[in-house]
Amino acid sequence: MKILLLGSGGREHALALKLKASAGPVELVSAPGSDALAELGERVWLDLENPAGIAAWCREHRPDLMVVGPEVPLVAGVADAVRALGIPVFGHAAATARLEGSKAFAKAFMQRHAIPCAASHTITDLAAGEALIKGWHHGYPIVLKADGLAAGKGVVLAQTQSEALATFHAFLAGQFGEASKMVVFEAPLVGMELSLHVLVDVDGDHAAYALLPACQDHKRIFEGDQGPNTGGMGAFGPLPFLRSEDIERMCTTLVEPTVRGLQQDGLVARGVLFLGVMWTASGPELLEYNVRFGDPETQVLMQLLDEDLASLLLEVAEGRLVSRELRLKPHTAIAVVLAAEDYPEGAKKGVPIFLGAPAVTVIHAGTRKQDGQWLTNGGRVLNLATSAPDLAAARAAIESALPQVHWPGMQVRRDIGLKALRHAEAGRTVQDPW
Ligand code: AMP
Ligand code: GLY
Repeated sequence: MKILLLGSGGREHALALKLKASAGPVELVSAPGSDALAELGERVWLDLENPAGIAAWCREHRPDLMVVGPEVPLVAGVADAVRALGIPVFGHAAATARLEGSKAFAKAFMQRHAIPCAASHTITDLAAGEALIKGWHHGYPIVLKADGLAAGKGVVLAQTQSEALATFHAFLAGQFGEASKMVVFEAPLVGMELSLHVLVDVDGDHAAYALLPACQDHKRIFEGDQGPNTGGMGAFGPLPFLRSEDIERMCTTLVEPTVRGLQQDGLVARGVLFLGVMWTASGPELLEYNVRFGDPETQVLMQLLDEDLASLLLEVAEGRLVSRELRLKPHTAIAVVLAAEDYPEGAKKGVPIFLGAPAVTVIHAGTRKQDGQWLTNGGRVLNLATSAPDLAAARAAIESALPQVHWPGMQVRRDIGLKALRHAEAGRTVQDPW
């Protein structure tokens, strides 16, 4: 099977490794790819924001499947352009990708379909926003979200009225261009955050979904959830204290209304939905939709999934998914990010990486190769991923592997999964304070 994979980061490397492990031979082409992806197949230079350019390449090279990693090409309409050629695409139509591409659209969808979520106001007017902040009665922090895509930086939790005003003014003045000219204000939700991925195949009368194990990301740069936010410093899954009735509850209150909502609204969905969930005192609430796999959640999920990935993604892309339980390893998986010096403010590039022979999976997120030597080339540089019978054993396996990979200035969190492990060991459930 010839597969065109769009993207270049750790998520795509993890997908590529799993695709190459499929039963049938996979000819992989990555765009724009990376030096690590180039070791698994061909690499082509395509502009991910140019649907016509990608469609032109597909018309000439006829891949059997296109898999879209990041959200930007989906929002730009790449899936529509390639599907129009009769080529199966794992990735949502642009109309559906608005669930991630517009926070206001997503909130309206959640409200229309009675999906539990934070109370919100969508504002485009300066005076209306200032009045809202001055009369704010939902408690602090005030959550401000730029409507459009802002490379993960468009959400601010303002602790004071003046911070909220300053953020709002910066947004409306175009801090993220057109993306922040509309602002969604939200009441703060308190609880435990988790990442829920669902494969969805919805088109007209056909609606099927398949749940992946719930994961937890660690967004802050430092241990103990301190310091600035990052793209994610590590993840693990499944959560040891999440019972099957908790998962069922998320299906009933969040996933199924979403699938029905897509159907009712005539939205075509053929890909993954990644629900950002906050489990609050009153149960699970939806923070956001992502229309792509999470990074580093994908690195965890690919360790757990015991299915032929190429066939599974093709099933979704061809609209043949049947709702079912996916085959999974009875393990807990963990992915730990090794980040560059200066991340997340910057990323020191070009630093030689010592890469020994760790007994875990090494995933490349931001590296390049020069004269046979791997160099740092991004904020999140490498991930170490593995699975073991339980979370403690998975954490221990990563600890043993860590001395095998390092470079000067490398940043790593050694507490990935630790809080959840303690929560579980104390006999607490998802309903207990986090
Ligand atoms: P989002 O991109 O909407 O997921 O927002 C980024 C992060 O901001 C989330 O992962 C949460 O940690 C946090 N966040 C978003 N919305 C809220 C909210 N209503 N209450 C508390 N935290 C939030
Ligand atoms: N790990 C969070 C994300 O991919 O958005």
